[in-house]
Amino acid sequence: MIDSESLFLTSSTSEAYACIFKLLCDPGDTVLVPRPSYPLFEFLAKLESVKLDAYRLTYHPGIGWQIDMEHVKSLTTPRTRAIILVNPNNPTGSYIKPHEIEAITAWCSRQNLAIIADEVFLDYAAASSPSKAASTAGNADVLTFTLSGISKILGLPQLKLGWVQVNGSEKILKAACCRLEMIIDTYLSLSTPVQIALPELMKTRQFFQNQVIARIETNFSCLQKACPPAGIRIFLRDNSSRLTHLHNTDARIQQSVAIRRMSLLMPSLGRHRWELFFYQ
Ligand SMILES: Cc1ncc(COP(=O)(O)O)c(C=O)c1O
Repeated sequence: MIDSESLFLTSSTSEAYACIFKLLCDPGDTVLVPRPSYPLFEFLAKLESVKLDAYRLTYHPGIGWQIDMEHVKSLTTPRTRAIILVNPNNPTGSYIKPHEIEAITAWCSRQNLAIIADEVFLDYAAASSPSKAASTAGNADVLTFTLSGISKILGLPQLKLGWVQVNGSEKILKAACCRLEMIIDTYLSLSTPVQIALPELMKTRQFFQNQVIARIETNFSCLQKACPPAGIRIFLRDNSSRLTHLHNTDARIQQSVAIRRMSLLMPSLGRHRWELFFYQ
């Protein structure tokens, strides 16, 4: 059960990031972000004069993407203020596993860092995906900001409504909530009509999400059927918008199979639109 005193509405998740950076950081302070991840972080941080350091997510066959904890530790300096977790991550679609949340929480507690947990895609677990991690909204061990919004959970980015739930030890929590409220109230950017409409809009949640999940499942099973167990594949969309593909047994790809040489291959693809997948 979430205490409404710890919940703040913003005009988007992006604005929530900006408010949290204002709250936690002085100019030049650092926040750790996953790589690969969502490219807007770079701009959101720069606009607040915050520096980002990217910690590695590494891919392990059979296990999936994992946080490189040693890298997180090596990047932490006295100017580090927070670690961003994106759960599930964009673009890898990977969930943070419970033991990883524990390890990050323990590290943040030791180093006096906050967690900024982006859960905008948490609702979209496909039936075929491994069990998803729980929300960090109940994480009281360190100062934790959990973010989401209707841009993703209802597919309504234009309506501009997001939120932050704040958690932490009682003493820090009060001060953090007071100051965050001050920052958000300074702008008051959230419109009244969308706040009034929210309860009605939320009724469409399941209907919308079922369609997205069904589409993800269909796309995923098509890809699984199309792709043999390992390799590099390029999908070409020709002028009749037919989707064709080249597998790495194709002579043109064999000539240039090293990933770093892919750019040499591209000109031969002419004016086709192409999509490139690496998979294991
Ligand atoms: C991981 C992640 N966080 C946040 C956002 C931004 O959400 P909003 O539209 O609420 O600003 C996006 C948008 O694509 C995203 O991918």
